[in-house]
Parts: sequence; C-alpha cells; structure tokens
Amino acid sequence: MRSAFASPRANALGDVVVNSVDSYQIRIAISGTSFDKYPAKQHARNVARKLGASHGLIFLAGQPTINLRDSDQARPFRQRRYFYYLSGVDEPDCTLTYDIALDLLTLYVPDFDLHRAIWMGPTLSREDAQDRYDIDRVLYQSSLKPELESWLSQRVQNSSLYMVHESETPDGLPTELPLNTKQLMPAMDAARGVKDEYEIRMIRQANKVSSLAHRRILERITKMSNESEIEGLFLDTCISHGARNQAYQIIAASGPNAAVLHYDRNNESLHQKPLVCLDAGAEWNCYASDVTRTFPLTGEWPNQYVRDIYKLVERMQEECIKQIRRGTRYLSLHDLAHDIAIDGLLALGVFKGGNHAEVRASGASKVFFPHGLGHHVGLEVHDVSESSIMAMHPDFDHEQYGPVLSPYNLSPCTVSAPLLEEGMVLTVEPGLYFSPLALANARKQPFAKYIDFDVAAKYVPIGGVRIEDDILVTANGYENLTTAPKGDEMLAIIRGSS
Ligand code: GLY
Ligand code: MN
Ligand code: MN
Repeated sequence: MRSAFASPRANALGDVVVNSVDSYQIRIAISGTSFDKYPAKQHARNVARKLGASHGLIFLAGQPTINLRDSDQARPFRQRRYFYYLSGVDEPDCTLTYDIALDLLTLYVPDFDLHRAIWMGPTLSREDAQDRYDIDRVLYQSSLKPELESWLSQRVQNSSLYMVHESETPDGLPTELPLNTKQLMPAMDAARGVKDEYEIRMIRQANKVSSLAHRRILERITKMSNESEIEGLFLDTCISHGARNQAYQIIAASGPNAAVLHYDRNNESLHQKPLVCLDAGAEWNCYASDVTRTFPLTGEWPNQYVRDIYKLVERMQEECIKQIRRGTRYLSLHDLAHDIAIDGLLALGVFKGGNHAEVRASGASKVFFPHGLGHHVGLEVHDVSESSIMAMHPDFDHEQYGPVLSPYNLSPCTVSAPLLEEGMVLTVEPGLYFSPLALANARKQPFAKYIDFDVAAKYVPIGGVRIEDDILVTANGYENLTTAPKGDEMLAIIRGSS
C-alpha cells in the first residue's frame, strides 16, 4: 500500500504523521513536550561528555542566508550539520549556545523583520521554536552579543568558548577570548559516529524513499531513452514523497560512464548500453541514504561479460555484509572484498601469470576496485566519526596491507583502526570498474604482467558495476536499511514492466 509522506516540516511540527512506502506507520507527536522531538539536548550532553568538560560554552553558528555571487538570488539553503546536531533546526540565520555547567541549550532566531516576512514569509518565531525543538531557551539574535558578554564576564576561570571554526566568532566581542577551536569538532565527530534511535529512524526513512525511487526506475527503465529521464524520475519520486533534497549528486551512468566513479552529467543516450549504474539517495530531515543499483536495460543481462561482473560484485557485497557485527574490523571486510575480486578476475582471465597471493601482493586489484568498501552515513553522506573506518594511521603496516591501499582514499585502515559498534550505519559498496584511463595507466605499472589487457578490453563497454546498501550495526548483528530491489528481484521487475 502506498501513501504520501508527510513533509519533513510537518514531521517536525507533527501531530499525526503518516509516512510509509510499503505500509502505513502512524506516529503521534504531541507538541509542547519533548516527546518525538529531535534529541538535541541529549546530543549536547553527549558532546560535553566527549569534550570531558564540566564547564564552558559551546557556540555553533547555523547557515546564514547568502546570495549567489553577483546575483540577488539566494544560494540553496543547506543547514550546517554541526549546528543541526545540537539543535534539530533546519532554518537559516540561527545560532546556538550550550552552557555545559548549567546544562542550558539556547537557540537564537532572527529578529522579526516585517519586510522579509511580507516577501519571504515569517522567519522562525521564538514561540514556534520553543514548541518545536528540544531547546531550553529561545532568544532573538539581537540578544546574542549581550548574552555572550554576560557569560564571558561571569565565566568560571579556565572555562573555554568552544567553536568549530575561529572565523565564526561573532563581531564586537573582546579580542582576548578564551577560544578553544581544537576540541569541539573531534568531540562532535565522535558523538555523531554512533546513531541513536531517532537518527536511525531518519536514515531508515531516507532509505525507504530512495528504495521506492530505485524501484520506480526499474519499473520504467524499458521506456526510457536517456540518462536524464532516470535522474528526473528519481527526483520526482523523492520530492513527491516528502524528500526534497538529495544527499549527493545523482549518478545515472550508462555503459562506459559507469567507470567514472562520480559521473553526474546524466545526459547521455541509453541506446545499446549494456547497463546503468544508478547511485542515488534521498535525505530525510537532513539524514542521508546512499544507495547504488546496477541493472540492464531489459530484464536480462545482455551478455556473459556483464552477468559475470554483476555476479562477482554481488558475491563481494553479500560476503562482506554477512560479516557485519559489533567488534568487526572494517579493514577485514575491505580485504575480503579484494580477495573475492581477485579470485573472480583470475577465473575470468582478467588476471593471469600469477596466483592469488602474487596478484594481491602486486596491488593490481586496485585497478578494478579503486575505492574503499564503504563509509559512515548520517547527517553527511560520508559521515564523520571518531576516526574514519577507512583512514590510514601513522603506524600503518605497509608490508601487510600496502597492496590494497588506495592512493586516493588511503584505504584500508590499520589494525589499530576502530571496531564497529552498535548504532553505527555504514555503506557496503563494492564495485568493479573497467576504466580505459586506469587500464592505460596500469600498463606502465610493475603489476601489468598480471593483467591480460586483451581480456580486460572486452569488459570496457560495461563501464562498471557497484552495489551499495546502508547497514546498521545492531546488538546481535546487522540490519540492512536499504530495501531497493537487487539481483533476481530487480531483473524480474524490469521484465515485468516491459
Ligand atoms: N554516493 C557516494 C558514495 O557512494 O560514496
Ligand atoms: Mn557510498
Ligand atoms: Mn553511493
């Protein structure tokens, strides 16, 4: 059963919210209580804990309204994520402070401006803000400077004014400020790496909309003739179901375009293309989803080459997802994906002249699988965390892991890298690509002896295959939040609509 999603704004205000793709889900939100509000206060306390501070003032600037360069038109508004994490406020021109000792969260909203209200609609009022958000006090922006001055004059000795960027210091304050711009960002990144129940609900909802939009593409793909139609229908489905923003530029790449990892021109003909790699994910209340499906234009793989690569990537993804649980080191999954890719490409004759260990040690698999296995997903599509699951560490053991280390994303991480924790949401997105540029470059590398370039050339028209799902680490294993059809179900949908 399908129904319209409530808009994100109605959701924030919500009394009764109906949001479903495949089934109804009714949630009651009672205004005037903290029930079902964005858990801003809890986030503020978590961040203070990560800071290890018992006093001090956290200061966060929201996104101001800014015009496009040399234009009277405003830049599309996108809220600052650090500000949102401690407020849940998706409105421009606001500021936030959190007094750690007093446990006092204060939102500053724009002063009422009659001209602006007539032309653009009223800005967030103090009363509405107090009602909608999990905030202790709401004041006008004109109170910000006196409030900061008052805090500065009364502050406990050695307490800091915590900010993410010094450049955001409000005008007119004394020049000698107790600024601390080193600790807040890492503390917030650490807090944001593990999601709470509310955040998981948002990411799940973003995935529902994206999964529906991917399904709609499969249902219509046999009638489409250009990549632009894929982008158009994807946006149409998301926006008409309440998800106005995409978490990143849509990648609707047909055939060889799929070898370009961040292709986003999305304007080429689909005529005689063997497949489409569609990487597209909506946002829901500022939370991202990140979903890739690769499919043929008919319900059948057009030839053995495409089918073999799809099946190989499918196996890479399935085997890696199965291993997700608390305590897993993501490095081992990235390694596993490379191992499966190497075995598969040896069997297909793309690799030759060496065994698994030799090919692996040479680093040749990075020509075909050049990116990391995945990343955190949250307020950013490539979300922050205490330390990146794919980051290189100073004590990185090049002897052991060098071969699968990408010079672009420094993956994988080291054995000292963080383990997966309950509440993390990560993508698992293996891919295999046949880029003419990467292959030309590979010919000049020592590992060229392990690549059969004549065989690899047969796969160039495919471009590439990527399959990407968003996985929640749970107490007992994992939950796949992405429900977009893939594999045989995906092919059956395309066949059923032709
Ligand atoms: N869509 C960007 C990514 O998959 O990381
Ligand atoms: Mn991704
Ligand atoms: Mn993606």
